Amino acid sequence: MKFFIDTADIAEIRSLAATGLVDGVTTNPSLVAKSGRRFLDAIAEICSIVGGPVSAEVTATEAEAMVKEGRKLAAIAGNVAVKVPLTPDGLRACRTLADDGTMVNVTLCFSPAQAILAAKAGAAFISPFVGRLDDVGTEGMQLIADIVQIYSNYPAFRTEVLVASVRHPMHVVEAAKMGAEVVTMPPAVLRQMFAHPLTEKGLAAFLSDWQKTGQSIL
Ligand code: G3P
Repeated sequence: MKFFIDTADIAEIRSLAATGLVDGVTTNPSLVAKSGRRFLDAIAEICSIVGGPVSAEVTATEAEAMVKEGRKLAAIAGNVAVKVPLTPDGLRACRTLADDGTMVNVTLCFSPAQAILAAKAGAAFISPFVGRLDDVGTEGMQLIADIVQIYSNYPAFRTEVLVASVRHPMHVVEAAKMGAEVVTMPPAVLRQMFAHPLTEKGLAAFLSDWQKTGQSIL
């Protein structure tokens, strides 16, 4: 299972990349706005920190303009994955960019039907938004189960399921149980994954008992 970090905050990316657990980064226009950085510079910097896919989203809404923007983004670095929305124009752009040899991440997926379209359009990644589905009273993780099942019926589909809009570690655990290839999570969720009160309590006891021995390993 690959872990991507869902942020455009360079300091956070640097700090989490140092854990050795980060396989890629996803951004979107809202995250870029929050970072206050110039988009193209931020993507170039992120690509120099993380070797895996770095998603950069187009903001045009017509296929030809999306392709133009996508090609510009893809030229930044070899590990850029161009993100396009799940619209008819987005999927046309996806096909063209995929034929160029560019990784495409199709975003804003909220149904299995949309995920089938993205796979047929040659997407490298499909991004179903689980948290936003939960927010409107539906079961976000059911969408992941459905897409994983559908894609596994068609080995010719090369699209990886990239679980997005993740809000807590249980989304990650459920996604892993379902066999999703990638989860993109906010930095806070990756940090939460480390935490367990029994780990902290156990470590404190071990260290205090060790001190009583008066020994040192080095
Ligand atoms: O990057 C796309 C997705 O992960 C957005 O998450 O929390 O804004 O629904 P959220």
